[in-house]
Amino acid sequence: MTVKTMEDLFVETLKDIYYAEKQILKALPGMVKKAGAGELKTALDHHRKETEGQVERLEKVFKLFDVAARGKKCLAIEGIIAEAKEHMDDIEDPEVLDAGMIGSAQAVEHYEITRYGTLIAWARQLGRDDAIELLEANLEEEKKADMLLTKIAEAAVNQSAAA
Ligand SMILES: [Fe+2]
Ligand SMILES: [Fe+2]
Repeated sequence: MTVKTMEDLFVETLKDIYYAEKQILKALPGMVKKAGAGELKTALDHHRKETEGQVERLEKVFKLFDVAARGKKCLAIEGIIAEAKEHMDDIEDPEVLDAGMIGSAQAVEHYEITRYGTLIAWARQLGRDDAIELLEANLEEEKKADMLLTKIAEAAVNQSAAA
């Protein structure tokens, strides 16, 4: 698809985040399994379930734009996930690994936050208020996930990793 209009650009970026969410959905179970700290495991698993709902919301946005829900390969998210996998393969100390995985997971959240922020701004500009609510629901979940990860890191994981 060639991008000619701002609506094209919106749809292209929607495909990007749709692809990213699906990759995240594939990567999260492995991270849940590897997480040592109980709260981290629970938080990641909770976000995995939320991500399923996010994919469904994105499918609704595609529908609103009359476009088939299809992802577009996103190298950015693949790079972030590859780094997370590298940590999981290379870090032996489980507490240091938890700290590393939180860092990777927060990189994922920040990527999502920037995408949703942009999409919401563009939807507003395009007068597509119908899409905004769905995108904002996803954005809120990403922000909460990010804040919870910060809390878990600062409350315990970082101290244990450094001990
Ligand atoms: Fe997400
Ligand atoms: Fe997320």
